[in-house]
Amino acid sequence: MPVITVVGNKGGAGKTTLSINLANGLNQRKDTILLDTDPQLSSLQWREISSRDDLVDVDDAVDDVESAVAKYKDHYSFVLIDCPPSIQSEQTRQALLQSDLAVIPVLPSPLDLWATVHVEKELEWARGANPDLQGLLVVNQLEPRTRLSKLVHDALAEIDIPTANTAIRRRMAYRNAMLKGCSVHHDGKPAASAAQEINQLIDELVKLTN
Ligand SMILES: Nc1ncnc2c1ncn2[C@@H]1O[C@H](COP(=O)(O)OP(=O)(O)OP(=O)(O)O)[C@@H](O)[C@H]1O
Ligand SMILES: [Mg+2]
Repeated sequence: MPVITVVGNKGGAGKTTLSINLANGLNQRKDTILLDTDPQLSSLQWREISSRDDLVDVDDAVDDVESAVAKYKDHYSFVLIDCPPSIQSEQTRQALLQSDLAVIPVLPSPLDLWATVHVEKELEWARGANPDLQGLLVVNQLEPRTRLSKLVHDALAEIDIPTANTAIRRRMAYRNAMLKGCSVHHDGKPAASAAQEINQLIDELVKLTN
């Protein structure tokens, strides 16, 4: 029952967007639950917008991440955790201690890349008690063929955490699906490219946590 946490050191990097879309994509393969540990509770709000019955289950785990993971771990094939903006928050630390893999969305901007230094430190700290914890950087909101996207590629190679082969592009489909209370997997043709890249990223996560 792999536990996958989506963390980062910068607000707005795409943790909630990735959590919701990865969790729904995983849920189409095997039973998945998304735990919302951010006091803003955006993932839970997203789940409450819609009454569709083909969406991933979401639960509030803000007060006690450890107990929530213990409660659901044996009942779901995947547990995903959406974290608060700060990597030093109590919830993020608890989530890292319970996880097999930390997925770290980074925006292709120098400020975001510099902030990953803190992520590296927290991963090291968590590995003191959870030595098998893996980390994976995921470039989010990529705009291909820009000068910045090439620079980002070189900068990521300097960081001591591997980068996913799949990058997530900047697409309206992510915002639209969020607004409608669904994921890119449920939003038809306009979201097909987004669903495809999310599924490709899921293949990488599944391989790492097998
Ligand atoms: N790949 C993408 N393409 C287009 N828009 C995106 C993409 N990823 C995220 N966004 C948008 O960027 C904004 C921030 O994303 P999101 O809320 O997922 O980040 P977050 O890391 O969870 O933020 P916070 O730290 O506040 O929890 C949202 O408006 C979201 O719709
Ligand atoms: Mg969020």
